[in-house]
Amino acid sequence: MKFKLLAAFLLFSVCVKAQNLNIIPQPQSVTKAAGQFYLNNRTTIGTKDTALLALVTYAQKEIYKAKSVALVQSGTGSESLIDLVLTNTSTIPGAYTLNITPERVTVSASNKEGVFYGLMSLLQLVKDQQADNDNNICLQACKIADAPRYQWRGLMLDESRHFFGKEKVKQLLDWMAYYKLNKFHWHLTDVQGWRIEIKKYPRLATIGGMGNYSDTSAEAEYYTQNEIREIVAYAAQRFIIVIPEIDMPGHATAANKAYPEFTGGSVAGYPNFTFNPANENTYQYLADIIKETNSLFPAHMIHLGGDEVSFGIKAWSLDTAIARMMQKKNFDGVNQLEQYFFKRMADTVTSLNSKILAWDEATGGNLPTDKTIIFWWRQNLPGQLHLALQKNYQVVLCPRLPLYFDFLQDTGLVGGRNWNGVFNRVTDVYNFPDRQVPADELNSKLIVGVQANIWTETIESEKRLDFMLFPRIAGLAEAAWTAPELKNEIAFTDKLKADFKNYDAAGIYYYNPFDPSFHPEVVDFVPRIKLVKARSYVRHASKRGHGKINRKHTSSKKDHKSSKRSHKKRK
Ligand code: ACM
Repeated sequence: MKFKLLAAFLLFSVCVKAQNLNIIPQPQSVTKAAGQFYLNNRTTIGTKDTALLALVTYAQKEIYKAKSVALVQSGTGSESLIDLVLTNTSTIPGAYTLNITPERVTVSASNKEGVFYGLMSLLQLVKDQQADNDNNICLQACKIADAPRYQWRGLMLDESRHFFGKEKVKQLLDWMAYYKLNKFHWHLTDVQGWRIEIKKYPRLATIGGMGNYSDTSAEAEYYTQNEIREIVAYAAQRFIIVIPEIDMPGHATAANKAYPEFTGGSVAGYPNFTFNPANENTYQYLADIIKETNSLFPAHMIHLGGDEVSFGIKAWSLDTAIARMMQKKNFDGVNQLEQYFFKRMADTVTSLNSKILAWDEATGGNLPTDKTIIFWWRQNLPGQLHLALQKNYQVVLCPRLPLYFDFLQDTGLVGGRNWNGVFNRVTDVYNFPDRQVPADELNSKLIVGVQANIWTETIESEKRLDFMLFPRIAGLAEAAWTAPELKNEIAFTDKLKADFKNYDAAGIYYYNPFDPSFHPEVVDFVPRIKLVKARSYVRHASKRGHGKINRKHTSSKKDHKSSKRSHKKRK
């Protein structure tokens, strides 16, 4: 009798916790109902829809991973306690309902993506609960109806400056899925390294892949085409589209190291920064690269970069062949040549039935508006966003403030950048874009979504990558998914605190803004220039001779000074 009472008490106490319904990003509508559903090793999960079978297996695995509860998969002909349903209502991609009653759980949506997100919400509710001694997980009965605010919910990782490898990328994709993020922008080429195998030009990977921001003589690191296919497939299982970036005509130093015949020349501080626009073979070379790249990414979207070319095109003015070409074509300056170059490469992308993605420098050019997405990153140039919308371009919002995750996220931290003393706190990320972007622009249908970018000059270790990403990724999720009228910063921070136990369980080295000493800052580099001037900058190659850095977990300024290398000065 005593034991029964105790068991009842335990179940009751577990269930009381369930009532918070902590889900990040906050769903559109959450209505609590009476009673609880008990999930355990006898609970069946299934679907009558064969198209959803892979999701049944996925959910089964994730719940087992999270709680060691092995759900029983039922056949497509039989009833299940957790039922996945494809409806024929028409809803936007990603919309779903999750209905938990004391008798059953139903996840339904009109598309697979929606069912997946319903399962991700269910997974978060399951993770939030502790199993009792009999491995019962008690879920509060509720009805959730949900849909995303934006269709583009992106995260960009720069693997040129530092290479993290496929296991870390897969972990990132897992967390993106957990937070319902759906676009992984992969910055694979830049000054410090070329990270994608191109069969027609093997030296791009084997020579261009050598070195990184910390160590210019490091062995080549890059993704083989098979590895890329593996990652793309892994992402697709999680309804994440992978978009490669092949940056041009600037940020091309690593490529030019491998194939110097296509370099656009050097000026002090910017060796071989661009491709050569006066060499007709450059266009064929890059077209070949784009074609091979495109064949690896079913997204049919290629990000062509196009940023900060102005640093390298000073070298163009010094080159006689380039001067001759400009004269022949009647160009009145190198900027016109830059636009000509970019348009030709963009035409290659569209000839493959793919979309062109580009940083906001491309707004000034003449790319086709119906086939181009502009990434607005220069928050100090709001006119670029304005112009892009005026010219009818679709836009992804990813301004440095607050969406560059290599920027510091709080006072007292030292190993990253900031902008005139402004920090990118998790709450700043959370509150984006409504407090920053004017309402008339924000209401434009051309704004397809938001994205955070992680540049990795100051991030070499996986620990620091975690530290910079978590928990801001949670703020990003809510910025991208949740309708502004449903946002509540206090409720969000409460959910975040609850989510930290999931970070702990996964061994994530996150920054805890509520208890900064919880995980001392992992500093890989200290930028020498603390305040970035309010103008553009370029990421530099590290100087030859830089040795491997000491990675240390430090919390005192003294330690930072003594053990950390400095960034080369930025422009
Ligand atoms: C950029 O940060 N150069 C896009």
